[in-house]
Amino acid sequence: MSNSRPLAAISGDSVLDAVLRIAAAAGCELDCVPDLVAARAAWMWAPLVLVDPAMLSDGDTEQLPRRGGVVLVTDQPLDLADWEAAYAVGVERVITLPDAEAALVDLLADVAEEPAAGSGAVLGVIGGRGGAGASVFAASVAMGHADDGGDALLVDCDALSGGIDLVLGAEHAAGLRWPDITVRAGRVSMSALRDALPAVDGGSGRLVVLSCGRSGDGPAPEAVAAVIEAGVRSGYTVVCDLPRELGAAGWQVIDLADLIAVIVPAEVRAAASASGLVERLRRRARRVGLVVRGPSPDALPADAVADVVGGEPLTVMRAEPRLASVLERGEFRPRRGGPLASGAADVLASLHGDAKAAA
Ligand SMILES: Nc1ncnc2c1ncn2[C@@H]1O[C@H](COP(=O)(O)OP(=O)(O)OP(=O)(O)O)[C@@H](O)[C@H]1O
Ligand SMILES: [Mg+2]
Repeated sequence: MSNSRPLAAISGDSVLDAVLRIAAAAGCELDCVPDLVAARAAWMWAPLVLVDPAMLSDGDTEQLPRRGGVVLVTDQPLDLADWEAAYAVGVERVITLPDAEAALVDLLADVAEEPAAGSGAVLGVIGGRGGAGASVFAASVAMGHADDGGDALLVDCDALSGGIDLVLGAEHAAGLRWPDITVRAGRVSMSALRDALPAVDGGSGRLVVLSCGRSGDGPAPEAVAAVIEAGVRSGYTVVCDLPRELGAAGWQVIDLADLIAVIVPAEVRAAASASGLVERLRRRARRVGLVVRGPSPDALPADAVADVVGGEPLTVMRAEPRLASVLERGEFRPRRGGPLASGAADVLASLHGDAKAAA
């Protein structure tokens, strides 16, 4: 029996028909079992377990080990005995059909889209000084990955940034921003996120963005963790734009990221400021790398910057020509073969090389 399919332990005909139809729509195959004895083998290992009241009332629930991700699906109001049985097997959630059909589609689609092997990767991007070019670089990496045919999720973690959707020229794109959404701790469906967030034209791949608003709060740490984990489960490259003043949400990203890229302009003061930051990051981050960028007002060599700052050199970029004006017009896209596109490609290669080695 496959461990990657949800287990359906459902004996009510109408519930089973509805669940099979919804699973087919979500592109998700189920392991269907006729009774709780047959369910026992897969109970612990299935990514999700669907049960119905009829199955619980017919079988011996005491033999089932406790686990998370057990969902009771019903098309009738529950009576006291149903609730007691649900409690006995540790049901986490009740889905009543047909009203909550969309919730079941999300749960199943989320399981279906999880890659069987391999997973996404998480990059944090932070400026070595204010205005270093971190947000532009984070957007460039996400766009670069989507241009190469990958799935990218760009997450804005800087509540005072004004919204990274502005960098992408996507400020009018329909979809939710951080202040519009409530994500509590736990599992978030990537398919639900993908549908709710603004999508940016991402070449052959997919780019979705979770931006801060023009005002309002940034994300809570548990929300950032849930979103990153949803992206990683679904094979996305998750790029987080970090503020220099790392709050709890920022440190959450540092803890979860495979790589933190520190953007350092090739200037003496920027290098001095970045060295203190890199020292703090290294105490918690898995891996800290440097992106040194021009222009250098006094021809400070990139290796001298790397020596002062002390992180692993990832790439060196010339200044991107005409960047300020294209950003201002909302027309930014890293020019193919240009400094930002090449720098982003170097960091993606480094990120994915490392993520592969860790898998
Ligand atoms: N690669 C680059 N080449 C040339 N100029 C750049 C580059 N990256 C950023 N800039 C310039 O720096 C400005 C600030 O960039 P950005 O907003 O990405 O910095 P930041 O580090 O995110 O700033 P903050 O500290 O406000 O978060 C841009 O508007 C642009 O004019
Ligand atoms: Mg920024």
